[in-house]
Amino acid sequence: MPSTVVVGAQWGDEGKGKIVDLLAQESDVVCRYQGGPNAGHTIVADGETWKLRQMPSGVVSGTTSVIGAGCVVDPEVFLAEVDLLVERGVDTSIVVLSGNAHLIMPWHVTIDQASERRLGKLQIGTTRRGIGPAYADKASRIGIRVQDVLDAKILRQKIEVALAEKNVWLERVYEVEGFELEEVWARYAAYAERLAPFVGDTSLLVDEALRAGKRVLFEGAQATMLDLDHGTYPFVTSSNPIASGAATGVGVGPTRIDRVLGVSKAYVTRVGEGPFPSEIAGPQQAQLRELGGEFGTVTGRERRCGWLDLVALRYAVRVNGITSLALTKLDVLSAFAELPVCVRYRQRDGSETPHFPAHQSDFHHAAPVWEVLPGWREPLDDASSVSDLPAPARAYVEFIAHELDVPIELVGVGAARDRVLA
Ligand code: IMP
Ligand code: MG
Repeated sequence: MPSTVVVGAQWGDEGKGKIVDLLAQESDVVCRYQGGPNAGHTIVADGETWKLRQMPSGVVSGTTSVIGAGCVVDPEVFLAEVDLLVERGVDTSIVVLSGNAHLIMPWHVTIDQASERRLGKLQIGTTRRGIGPAYADKASRIGIRVQDVLDAKILRQKIEVALAEKNVWLERVYEVEGFELEEVWARYAAYAERLAPFVGDTSLLVDEALRAGKRVLFEGAQATMLDLDHGTYPFVTSSNPIASGAATGVGVGPTRIDRVLGVSKAYVTRVGEGPFPSEIAGPQQAQLRELGGEFGTVTGRERRCGWLDLVALRYAVRVNGITSLALTKLDVLSAFAELPVCVRYRQRDGSETPHFPAHQSDFHHAAPVWEVLPGWREPLDDASSVSDLPAPARAYVEFIAHELDVPIELVGVGAARDRVLA
């Protein structure tokens, strides 16, 4: 596997971090290609739990870790994770940050919060980390980039120019307090000094690695359904988590990607607002949330829980070009006697479709058509390969592979690194 993209096939929190951590053991370089500290990856390795937001998950295993041009970086979060790595004895010279990535500035966080408040009932339910406003400034070509930290004069000037406008917005539009130039400058001058050694030409680094036949892993943050262009807009993030985003976000051609591993839970969760056809209606939703520990890594929010949605997953296979799947948290389903799976959507006119609706209002009105599979009602702790699984659990996995026409390569049955079955 010279180069692999690992992508979330649902609404995020599929357990990508754990899969990346596992594959990172056999990789030479791991790259984040989009997103920022809105991501939350929990990794359990050698008895230690890591909660990462900004760094590639591969960093835990000491693999060269790239933060690509398509990312947004909050220096405070980044440097706190650097400190955590140092504390745990990881050599931080393995982390390389693209100079083209954009910086999340304090006003981005304030605007994210203020704009969600203002939207009230129409809010997106963002992580309030400044992600959307940072990407908006990037697209408006007024963003501040990582490479700006290399020149104090330029950095100060850019902060000054940005603040002149942002403070007017903050005070007059959002009616919150603006920022003091000297205060922001003092903080960012200190960050700049610490960030500078991490800045490098990441596109070249990855290209050279690929040319040398090294194994490169591209790690998506968030997920397919949160993709700005192909997700459930406007309830999406402001970047492109889908597999092709790896090429744009790191700066390599799409022909350099050999395979795409989609990661899906054996059920579905979603944080934030927006339609969710397979959301569980009764008390089983809370039961699943407790069993699966479905609370946000970054925000601590309760995740909404649903049964597996094969219509959405079929769509993820399409837009990512998924070549194989990792199915995570199968063990969480052990508690249930029956497992409904959404195989089609019933549309407003009563017809049924296996395809994800192209238009938002059709998705809003989509109702799940269930096929109910038998549960296994026993723990999966003893299984050391897929063939050891109880017959109904195996049948559940095979049903998904058959419906999607994609091989399932890995099955997650517990939190630890070794609880992934091949
Ligand atoms: P933002 O990325 O903070 O702008 O949030 C936009 C949407 O993406 C919201 O619905 C968030 O809940 C969702 N989101 C962002 N990051 C993650 C993640 O890592 N896991 C799950 N949902 C996420
Ligand atoms: Mg997460």
